[in-house]
Amino acid sequence: MNADLSRYRDLLARYVVIQRRGVALLAVLLAANIGLQLAGPQLLRRFIDGALRGEARSTLIALAVVFLVLAVITQIVAVGETYVAENVGWTATNKLRSDLALHCLRLDMAFHNARTPGELIERIDGDVSKLGNFFSRFVVHVFGNGLLFAGVLILLWRIHWLAGAVLTAFGLLSLLVLLRLRRVGAPRWNAARQASAELFGFIKERLAGTEDIRANGATEYTMRSLHVLARNLLRRERIAGFFGSLTGSTTVLLFALGTVLSLTLGAYLLSVGAISLGTVFLMYTYTELLTRPIEQITRQMQDLQQAAASIGRVQALFDARGSIEEGDATLPSSGALSVELNGVTFDYFGGRPVLRDVSFVLRRGETLGLLGRTGSGKTTITRLLCRLYDPQEGTIRLGDTDVRDIQTASLRSRVGVVTQDIQLFRASLRDNLTLFDTRIADAEMIRVLDELELGDWYRALPRGLDTLLDHGSGLSAGEAQLLAFARVFLSDPGLVILDEASSRLDPATERRLDHAVARVLEGRTGIIIAHRLSTVQRVETIMVLENGQVVEFGSRAALAAEPTSRFAGLLRTGLEEPAQNRQKTPVESS
Ligand SMILES: Nc1ncnc2c1ncn2[C@@H]1O[C@H](COP(=O)(O)OP(=O)(O)OP(=O)(O)O)[C@@H](O)[C@H]1O
Ligand SMILES: [Mg+2]
Repeated sequence: MNADLSRYRDLLARYVVIQRRGVALLAVLLAANIGLQLAGPQLLRRFIDGALRGEARSTLIALAVVFLVLAVITQIVAVGETYVAENVGWTATNKLRSDLALHCLRLDMAFHNARTPGELIERIDGDVSKLGNFFSRFVVHVFGNGLLFAGVLILLWRIHWLAGAVLTAFGLLSLLVLLRLRRVGAPRWNAARQASAELFGFIKERLAGTEDIRANGATEYTMRSLHVLARNLLRRERIAGFFGSLTGSTTVLLFALGTVLSLTLGAYLLSVGAISLGTVFLMYTYTELLTRPIEQITRQMQDLQQAAASIGRVQALFDARGSIEEGDATLPSSGALSVELNGVTFDYFGGRPVLRDVSFVLRRGETLGLLGRTGSGKTTITRLLCRLYDPQEGTIRLGDTDVRDIQTASLRSRVGVVTQDIQLFRASLRDNLTLFDTRIADAEMIRVLDELELGDWYRALPRGLDTLLDHGSGLSAGEAQLLAFARVFLSDPGLVILDEASSRLDPATERRLDHAVARVLEGRTGIIIAHRLSTVQRVETIMVLENGQVVEFGSRAALAAEPTSRFAGLLRTGLEEPAQNRQKTPVESS
């Protein structure tokens, strides 16, 4: 609990207390609200007793007018309070959301691979939303309602000690009972939220894979899993709902008991002449008023319990550390970069090594053709070069600097990658080309598009660079690749890695791509993971990977001339897409 308390304090200090003006205003409005709520009934008592005593009509009218004015002011204050509280709450949660999102973006791929997007969304948005109430209301409300509770009781004691004693006992009992009920109910609500998060995550993931699911006839299986999750949610919601309504009914009953108590007591005290009729009414109103803080306080406590779970999860996310540590060296901002791998051994999650003792050197400006059957570790090498992961053994050097010593931002700005499946963002063509780097001029983009023979395509777009692109929106695979080349061009890296898409393209697009590859590689070091022969025909050096090991490395011409080499074998049998015909992979049969 102590650790919890300091955690709450930290969060409140970092996101709420920092908004000094909002918090101060909130406190003032709250105090005003409480004062007004306590003052209203006092006026009513004076009005009733005055009317019974036959006081002048003008006094009564004045009292009524003041009462009405107070009622209006109370509402205005309440609206203002809600407004300020929402502001404080949303400012705090938005800041927390962006802190969390930034934190996640900085974490490495090992972290992201271990979590579904749905899970992260639930953390960054779902849990944080639940904290909104904690941030905006909790302290102020518990404190404020505590004051109101105490204030009402003090006023009741001042009316008559019996009224004070009975209603204090009633107030405390109600608080205890409701707190207890809510404590029992809260874990049920959490379980229901968890079930909903699971269902949500599942749907999200399956929707993303709709095409594969349909293509592979996994529809039935998916629907079955969906039913299981939905049924689980139903069960959890039912239990939680039951506890919710149980708490609701108990509250209503308890408060009815309070009304009965205060009216009976009032009637008795009136009959013995201890209090006036106006005071009976005052007692009744105060008892009603007493139920408000009771309800609020127990509700806040329940919220706190839910918030505690969310705070725990949010904190755990903040505590997640990437395995990648930032270096502080920077790479030269222009010119080709040399590449050196030395005894690199790597596995993803402590399983079978995906790369074993891989060593090779690329001089500045040299181009390497990387071949190997599917799963041999080609893409993995590119990930290590971008430092999405660190190898368990061995070193990787770029431009003579160990990648572990280089700032990741500097490293990634100097390494351009065209991946196997191009990600297009739902954004304008301009943003897709520059990846939101506003320093790049439009003219530059158009020049690059022209250079990559995308000029005609571009000019046919209805809104030019402002055209909204979508995941692959009507773009052919080849065009998407060309756009990715344009991205690389614009970022001007010193090392270009092309992980060719393994799908076949039509000859015209292939020709355009070959041309683009040649242009992109000019004056840069390059690694081409080739799935087509035409691409490797231009490179100087060839490396063949097999099961994560380098089995062949040398100049293309020499390897091609050597009839027993794997590369020569590939040239004879063709470099067909290995994934489609794994059994007859040329590399394997040679
Ligand atoms: N994110 C990951 N987590 C765990 N294992 C992975 C991950 N990515 C790849 N692997 C495994 O690492 C091995 C090498 O994969 P890699 O993607 O490097 O192959 P590849 O040579 O690029 O294949 P392809 O020609 O099909 O693109 C495979 O056995 C694969 O299952
Ligand atoms: Mg690959």
